[in-house]
Amino acid sequence: MEIVNVFDRYNVYIGSGILGNINGIINLDNFSKVIVITDENIPANYLKQFEKITVPPGEKSKNIETVKLIWEKMLELGCDRKSLIINLGGGVIGDMGGFAASCYMRGVKFLQVSTTLLSSVDASVGGKVGIDFNGVKNLIGTFNQPIGVVIDIDTFNSLSDREFISGFAEIIKHGIIADTEYFKNVTSKKPGEFSKEELIEIIKRSCEIKAQIISDDEKEAGNRKLLNFGHTVGHAIEGISLETDDPLLHGEAVSIGMVAEAKISKELGLIDGVTAEKIKESLMFVGLPVSYSVEDFEKFSSLIGKDKKTESGKIRWTLVKGFGEAAINQEVPEDVIKKSLAYISQ
Ligand SMILES: NC(=O)c1ccc[n+]([C@@H]2O[C@H](COP(=O)([O-])OP(=O)(O)OC[C@H]3O[C@@H](n4cnc5c(N)ncnc54)[C@H](O)[C@@H]3O)[C@@H](O)[C@H]2O)c1
Ligand SMILES: [Zn+2]
Repeated sequence: MEIVNVFDRYNVYIGSGILGNINGIINLDNFSKVIVITDENIPANYLKQFEKITVPPGEKSKNIETVKLIWEKMLELGCDRKSLIINLGGGVIGDMGGFAASCYMRGVKFLQVSTTLLSSVDASVGGKVGIDFNGVKNLIGTFNQPIGVVIDIDTFNSLSDREFISGFAEIIKHGIIADTEYFKNVTSKKPGEFSKEELIEIIKRSCEIKAQIISDDEKEAGNRKLLNFGHTVGHAIEGISLETDDPLLHGEAVSIGMVAEAKISKELGLIDGVTAEKIKESLMFVGLPVSYSVEDFEKFSSLIGKDKKTESGKIRWTLVKGFGEAAINQEVPEDVIKKSLAYISQ
């Protein structure tokens, strides 16, 4: 088992077959009650020793109505301030369950048990919890740290290839913004070709990069914004696609977002054309989508304007300056944004 420490406050435990021994990893004795929040797609035999609240799966459930159901159920099950909530699932369950726990009785402790690759390398670490609201991703939420994160890679066995590959978008992002060698390593093979040991190492490195970046910026005043690369365009097209019959997965939207934002970085002279192409080719190689046709620019514009990355009415972009380096708080003229959308529409 590998361990990564976050904020000197809690650990991320990464291993194979470790979920069956959760009591050996996290001391659960001091809680009045342990309740698991999960979704219908997560195999029912995980953590079956605990009472469960099971909600419908997917981004479409990540809203206040589902949180209300969770709170009602918590009350019904007798959850008090000394209870522990275990969020067993992907980023949706982690974000929403963490948010529900943060507000219930002014906050009960929670543990993240991540069952998707995407949430393991990103969502489960760092304490951002929340829900979508009125079509805007993650609009309502708080910063609240879990007591720990448990990642058992064996739980990924029931993930579809599409879900698994989606996680590589955030992994590749970590390489692009912080570690060239890591970028080369994680794009050297197809996602399915990494061994279990290699996968554990990859998750560990991504958690380390994220933990390092957020270590002095828990509430995103500065450096934490580095992690937003690909997410300004990404969140907007994710929001648009959620209203269609063919919604993008978060990682897929981020992949397309990174292609658009690499193009913007190139147009603004931060990187050369070869680097922008390399980013796009690598994402294609691992099997991620790199194109999306934005038909309604007004709608897109309004979505990027409502994103939390906006300050004083100005959108602050995180762009790349080359492999292993990114720049926060960049402004981008509208014609350059339009060029990047034309680029990803091909
Ligand atoms: N808090 C953060 O810092 C942060 C960072 C990145 C992403 N996120 C959020 O994370 C979410 C995306 O996370 P995700 O990709 O894990 O989505 P998800 O939680 O919706 O999981 C993806 C799908 O896989 C299913 N699933 C999960 N684990 C499974 C398993 N072991 N076997 C079979 N099916 C399983 C889920 O039911 C769902 O249908 C987004 O809402 C995004 O905003 C948050
Ligand atoms: Zn993301």
